[in-house]
Amino acid sequence: MNILNLGAGGFIGSHLTRRLLDEGHSVTAVDLYTDKLGELLDHPRLTFVQQDIRNREWHIAPFVENADLVIDLIAYANPGLYIRMPLEVFRLNFQENLKIAEACALHAKRLIQFSTCEVYGRTAASLKQANLRDPEDPIHATFSEDESEFILGPVNRHRWIYACSKQLLERVLHAYGLETGFNYTIVRPFNFIGPKIDFLLSEQDGIPRVFSFFMDALLHGGVMKLVDGGTQRRCYTYIDDAIECTYRIVENPGGVCDRQIFNIGSPYNEISIRQLAETMREIYAEKFRHGDTPLPEIVTVSGEEFYGKGYDDSDRRIPNIDKARTLLGWEPKWPFRDLLEATMSYYVHEYPGSKLAATAL
Ligand code: NAD
Ligand code: UGA
Repeated sequence: MNILNLGAGGFIGSHLTRRLLDEGHSVTAVDLYTDKLGELLDHPRLTFVQQDIRNREWHIAPFVENADLVIDLIAYANPGLYIRMPLEVFRLNFQENLKIAEACALHAKRLIQFSTCEVYGRTAASLKQANLRDPEDPIHATFSEDESEFILGPVNRHRWIYACSKQLLERVLHAYGLETGFNYTIVRPFNFIGPKIDFLLSEQDGIPRVFSFFMDALLHGGVMKLVDGGTQRRCYTYIDDAIECTYRIVENPGGVCDRQIFNIGSPYNEISIRQLAETMREIYAEKFRHGDTPLPEIVTVSGEEFYGKGYDDSDRRIPNIDKARTLLGWEPKWPFRDLLEATMSYYVHEYPGSKLAATAL
């Protein structure tokens, strides 16, 4: 197939591009940046288009027309950005993505749209005070694609603009499907992790996802900050498992993914952020630390202090993956400790200027 991969230069996009090329497809990759694609840029079946999709001089229609399948991964996907620039998040994640979806609908091209597990919002456990649900019942932290309720925080907690933008896009795709037969598949990732997930703070400014903060503290000193005590829980999913599921969605055997939504995540890997910090410290001490370089201290900060006003959080989110199991025969294989060690190993070797290398070599 000729596949138009938008956001191919990102974390998921770069791993997916490699898999698509390995499977024999031709890929037109669009992104602002090339660095995560590395040697793939020389691949004979890859065409890289360095482009800001917000540029009004640029038109996506000819790219969509030439594609057999469009995959859209472009978004601002780091919570720090939802707080710093909520309007830009809405513009890119909804308005610009809508143009892509409409081009696909117009040219009758199948679209795989990356959404997010954040559309589910908080768990029902957050409603404890209102006594609406039994907070101890784990069922209310397990989200299924076609049945779970979406519970987002108030407007003044503008973190939720990301989830709202993604949710609205999902609803528009659904409406196009109903009214015109448009063929889409929506993917809701649950905390994918792996090599190239994000930059380290020592490399560039910004607010990456939590793994990079903790890795940076391990490599370069500093503290590991637990936002609001680190009691929030996440289900970490290794990028190889995630790409395997995504590729099955690309293949779409017998059309089973047509107009479907899929959670992609590992329900077996639920841990608190405190456990994430502690496990990273343990693995680092066991496998990567040389000498007696001190391990970072773990401290607690408030969400507002760390991210700014308007921050809110999702306390628990566990994917129900029955649909991916049944329709695609997919099951995540990577256990938590192994995926963490593999991801950390990549960063340890990728950042030779770190304190680690200086003391070790
Ligand atoms: P990422 O930030 O690594 O990738 C996004 C890519 O989009 C980047 O390479 C970026 O350069 C590109 N991009 C941003 N603005 C652009 C523009 N104006 N023009 C062209 N390219 C632009 O993020 P990711 O983790 O790979 O996530 C990919 C998608 O999956 C996003 O839609 C995200 O919301 C969704 N998602 C990811 C996760 C996860 O676990 N990584 C979880 C939930 C949802
Ligand atoms: C992220 C982003 O919203 C999206 O990329 C995506 O939708 C989603 O993950 C996903 O991967 O599924 P979140 O999990 O909240 O959401 O992002 P992280 O930055 O990785 O934060 C995880 C938790 O760690 C949050 O509770 C955050 O407050 C906490 N945190 C973050 C810390 O305790 N310390 C830090 O230094 C950074």
